[in-house]
Amino acid sequence: MTRSKKPVFTFEKVQNTKGLATSLLALLLLVLPAMTLLGGCGNQVTVKRDDSDLVSKDVTKGGREAIYPDDKPSEPDGKVVYEKLSCAECHGADGKGVSGKAAIDLASAQYMRKQKPIDQYMFLAFGKDGLKHPSTLDSVSSQKTWNLVFYLRSLACPLMGATDYEQVTPVYGANCAVCHGPKGYGDGPLNKYNVLEPNPANFQNYQRFYDRTDDTLYDHIANGIKWEGMPNFLGKQDKAKGVKFDQAYIWKLVAYVRAFHSTNKQIAEANIGSPAAGSPSEKPKEGQTADRAKSEEARPEGETK
Ligand code: HEC
Ligand code: HEC
Repeated sequence: MTRSKKPVFTFEKVQNTKGLATSLLALLLLVLPAMTLLGGCGNQVTVKRDDSDLVSKDVTKGGREAIYPDDKPSEPDGKVVYEKLSCAECHGADGKGVSGKAAIDLASAQYMRKQKPIDQYMFLAFGKDGLKHPSTLDSVSSQKTWNLVFYLRSLACPLMGATDYEQVTPVYGANCAVCHGPKGYGDGPLNKYNVLEPNPANFQNYQRFYDRTDDTLYDHIANGIKWEGMPNFLGKQDKAKGVKFDQAYIWKLVAYVRAFHSTNKQIAEANIGSPAAGSPSEKPKEGQTADRAKSEEARPEGETK
């Protein structure tokens, strides 16, 4: 494992060697326990090291490009689109499939957890070779296609309700926010000096998470990511909060992580009602770049302390 990328520390402001030594010591004290405690657990899982390579093969298909949503996808609007485009004619109102028309069970969690949102978007927008299938972009916008994607996902894996959300929030706060930040920007206090390489995942970066299946997220939370500082949680306990991280709880965490980026404004406000959920209310409507800008802007000095 090479760690050749960027230096984790810059010493420009250090005037004398005594200061340098102190900083080095501080760095060591921070890094060593983090590496030994968190590094050596779980299955080896290969994840993308940064977000730069996402706009690649997955999102282009014969020159067709994915257009990312301007706003958080809305499941309720997706339902309207599902009805408008008569998807139910073949897939049934519940997604289970109409016999003789479509065999696939879109309401199966097992199936849905293996699907990446981005692949589903590409399928709905542009279809698939060898399958005659309506293409959504013939009649609706790409935003509406995203809404449809997340509506389909909610058929199989219902959205997290407000009660569950409120119960998980303090558990997230106690176990995850130290690295991932209270609002999921990956800016938790443990990484204040950029000691974690790579940085903890930014849950607000929806492009990254549209490129993940739920199964992948489950695996990363349950088993950790070796050498990347992401601890394994399956089988552990948070005694103070009275929580056991069993399989069911890991799935809740998957839904919680997704709620940072896939929950629309209305649901975030009405259903969840917590600005700590990364409610997009302040977000300017410019999609990805705006999201990134917001992420920078949401890291004032005080917030990382
Ligand atoms: C004329 C019938 C028909 C209509 C209308 C239709 N589909 Fe399909 N759909 C199919 C068939 C056939 C398949 C292939 C799988 C199968 O045989 O069940 C499929 C597959 C899918 C898949 C799975 C793709 C994969 O590779 O896993 C999704 C998701 C899907 N359809 C969503 C939709 C949505 C959303 C709509 C409405 C815009 C829609 N379909 C309209 C017939 C239809
Ligand atoms: C000690 C720091 C730390 C803690 C605590 C931590 N994480 Fe992580 N997490 C990381 C790092 C580092 C990564 C790897 C980021 C990367 O690969 O780019 C990561 C990655 C992830 C990913 C994978 C993202 C992907 O792209 O697949 C998920 C999901 C995740 N963490 C969820 C959680 C949850 C939920 C908790 C609390 C139950 C938690 N993390 C606690 C540091 C941490």
